[in-house]
Amino acid sequence: MADLLQLILSRRSIRKYLPQPVPAEMLDQLLQAGMSAPSASNSQPWEFVVINDEQVLSDLRQALPFGKFYAPAVIVVCGNPLKAANASGLLFWQQDCSAATQNILLAAHALGLGACWVGVHPIPLVRRSVCNVLGLPAWVKPLCAIYLGYPEFMKDPKPKYHPGRIHYNRYHDTANTAGSDK
Ligand SMILES: Cc1cc2nc3c(=O)[nH]c(=O)nc-3n(C[C@H](O)[C@H](O)[C@H](O)COP(=O)(O)O)c2cc1C
Repeated sequence: MADLLQLILSRRSIRKYLPQPVPAEMLDQLLQAGMSAPSASNSQPWEFVVINDEQVLSDLRQALPFGKFYAPAVIVVCGNPLKAANASGLLFWQQDCSAATQNILLAAHALGLGACWVGVHPIPLVRRSVCNVLGLPAWVKPLCAIYLGYPEFMKDPKPKYHPGRIHYNRYHDTANTAGSDK
């Protein structure tokens, strides 16, 4: 397997996929990666809806204003307080599910798949549409949809490292310029 740091530095959001399906064994590996994520008090408040049915994929595209592009597989990452091991799952489900999501994105990259995080929470209209498409009960909250597939092409790494965003020991607001990386 490629070096983990190299994988982290080279991951990109992929939005063009080949039509070939994502093998079930790979989906299983991605779910294992998702469920290996850290969670507050180890509450693991997550559930995952795996979608590879063309009709449901099409309905989901309709529901997602910024997810109109085709993918042969999607994993919707949800928080479910009733499945959480303790009350931390109520408070921290977004962070816990985000950690699971990032693990899945990186695992997809490691497996040679392309992936893209498509946002759902906290936009109420999008959340409601996704709940309707997937038949989620009211207490199951979709955080995001992870689009997955074999990439049509690879993207170059995007340098995002800004030394100006780093502060040692105390915050130093040198330039007092919000948004500036100088
Ligand atoms: C919370 C969140 C929501 C996002 N929502 C969408 C989305 O709805 N549609 C989309 O195409 N990309 C979405 N993205 C992917 C970002 O656009 C992408 O990560 C960003 O442009 C940086 O590009 P990179 O992932 O290639 O480094 C989302 C990412 C995050 C973290």
